Amino acid sequence: MGVESMNVQFDFSGRHAVVFGGTTGINLGIAQAFAAAGADVTVVSRKQANVDAAVATLGARGFGTVADVRDEASVRAALAAAHDKHGPIDVLVSGAAGNFLADVNSMSSNAFKVVVDIDLVGSFHVARHAFEHLRKPGASVLFISAPQAVVPMPWQAHVGAAKAGIDQFARVLALEWGAAGVRVNAISPGPIAGTEGMKRLAPQGPEGDALVRAMVPLGRMGTPRDIAHLAMFLGSDAAAYLSGTVIACDGGAQNMLTPMITAAIGQGMATR
Ligand code: HXC
Repeated sequence: MGVESMNVQFDFSGRHAVVFGGTTGINLGIAQAFAAAGADVTVVSRKQANVDAAVATLGARGFGTVADVRDEASVRAALAAAHDKHGPIDVLVSGAAGNFLADVNSMSSNAFKVVVDIDLVGSFHVARHAFEHLRKPGASVLFISAPQAVVPMPWQAHVGAAKAGIDQFARVLALEWGAAGVRVNAISPGPIAGTEGMKRLAPQGPEGDALVRAMVPLGRMGTPRDIAHLAMFLGSDAAAYLSGTVIACDGGAQNMLTPMITAAIGQGMATR
């Protein structure tokens, strides 16, 4: 293969990407990347104002609709609306998530449940009701996981439980849907600058940034663009033989040790 043919530009013209949670942060970055690569894009989230603001950034082929992933009926309606607008779904991203810092002893049953309901049960609703709308064969399903799934983090029991569930759910779906020609994978983003997750979890200010950077072997925080590039790869035919995997996109951070993360989150708690 010549060097020139390895400089691949993604082209999603004529393909439909649907991004749940796609109105802010990492998921908005993914939606915008697919739109820039020519895709028809549908974003889905809870608030109409966020949907309107996101769609305004997606160009002429952007579309959005409101749903709460905890509400099965609204997820079904959003997927039907997406299909009506742009046809079968080629790339489905399930990225809606909730998060707050709380230790187990101060968490109510409802506090634990709300995050599991959004992240894990919500991912079930999205995938379960998307199947009938996916292009088969050829569709690619992406879940957004988190390092908490494999690295135990204090004050993140609810998130760790939910994200670990997402990882295994993705692996099982890859088994069940492989015969239909549907690939299923998950992305586990590291610390991504400017996101709601980092605002809630990381220590703030220049010292906080330095602490987070020290947890990353590549020495910088990630950007939504870093995650979007992986999402485009996984959504493209370049990843045609990739299914049932959870890929960390974190500058190597998952190979650092829990004590550093504990110290960082502890400092974050202290600065609130
Ligand atoms: C303890 C808390 C709490 C807190 C909420 N609860 N915040 N308990 N400490 N800080 C409890 C409430 O008291 C209530 O329990 C229950 O949780 C539900 O809260 P509600 O406010 O009624 O629910 P709702 O408004 O539906 O949703 C709350 C929310 C949501 C889940 C916190 O607003 C949210 O998460 N928004 C942020 C979205 C976000 O940040 N997304 C990005 C996630 S980043 P009781 O018992 O009182 O009823 C991510 C990955 C990060 O996930 C990875 C970084 C490396």
